[in-house]
Amino acid sequence: MAFRQFSSVETPCVLLDESKLQDNIRRIQKIADTHHVNVRPHIKTHKCLEIFQLQEDVGAVGITASKTDEALTFINNGVQSVTVAYPLVVESKLNRLITASCLHQVDLRLTIDSFYGLEVIAQVAKRHGKQIGVFLKIDVGLHRCGIVEDDPLILKLATAIQEESILNFLGLLSHAGHAYGAENRDHVWKIAKNEHQILSRVRQKLEAVQIEVKEISVGSTPTILASDTYATITEIRPGNYVFMDRTPLRLGLIQPQEIALSILATVVSVNPEYFIIDAGSKVLSSDQGAHGIAGMEGYGLVYPLDCFEDFGHEMIISKLSEEHGFVARRNFDLPIGSVVRIKPNHSCSVANLANFYVVSNGDKIIDKWKIDARGQVS
Ligand SMILES: Cc1ncc(COP(=O)(O)O)c(C=O)c1O
Repeated sequence: MAFRQFSSVETPCVLLDESKLQDNIRRIQKIADTHHVNVRPHIKTHKCLEIFQLQEDVGAVGITASKTDEALTFINNGVQSVTVAYPLVVESKLNRLITASCLHQVDLRLTIDSFYGLEVIAQVAKRHGKQIGVFLKIDVGLHRCGIVEDDPLILKLATAIQEESILNFLGLLSHAGHAYGAENRDHVWKIAKNEHQILSRVRQKLEAVQIEVKEISVGSTPTILASDTYATITEIRPGNYVFMDRTPLRLGLIQPQEIALSILATVVSVNPEYFIIDAGSKVLSSDQGAHGIAGMEGYGLVYPLDCFEDFGHEMIISKLSEEHGFVARRNFDLPIGSVVRIKPNHSCSVANLANFYVVSNGDKIIDKWKIDARGQVS
């Protein structure tokens, strides 16, 4: 029987297909190479040193991180260039990060969208005598962090960064996360185009007053998969692309077989409406999309082990308890003890909940990789 090895693994577990993972890593690197931009992957998706090694092997220039301790896991294991694409404003966290960056001679790049952030970074950087690269975060439509295009704060902050000798103004950084709520590929393409145009206009305004914009860093997996031009861009920061999940699938940006991460679970009980499986919100998360955008029905697609990716056997997880998933039965009959395979809604959240990946190649289990920075949310 194909997938026999999968039915003997203890569940729930996160299964990672290494050849699909490698294909996804190569695919984005190829896009970057074609358009002459750097790849600085966001490691919040996988939080795993082994996977970053694969990204670095094909050309990644360093990492992007969100959180201090997530970044430290990679710095302490030899990563030399780190962008924290998150407004770090807490002195103790900056102190921890800058101390490690001095010790390991890391090229540290931070993100600012307020004078508060600028002042606290400059203060800690001066204390350590550490030169820090700084990006201004531009809000291109997600309306989370960043400064909108017409806000005079952009010029004021860029000027202040330039005048602060311990800081080195690098340029502009944005994340078009609202693409996760797009309707289709064309809609994502328009969001990416709009992002590039906003950044280009901001760059022109700054350069008109002799503020040099050396770098423009963008990145979300959907916008990178949908874009066809990178004219003003110097770097991309995709995260989700290593695994993919139901969002790029829903947007028509990938084929089902390109999703590298799945979850194995066991049917532990059956009632007239549902198969109950041993993966609930503590394994799958409760995400129905990313960035609070509920783009998908249910909490994952479920297949009997022998019918993975067979639409005729696809079921939906309609509800979650912490430790149980409710799989709508359709007309199938799955005996208690059967193993099922799940395509997740949001693979980044799934990875953060597990301790390790069970690594497979086709139907063989070949390894187990630690999720080194899992739970590092500080
Ligand atoms: C600031 C920032 N940059 C890059 C990314 C990577 O986006 P994705 O996971 O869609 O590739 C994220 C994801 O949330 C982000 O918040």
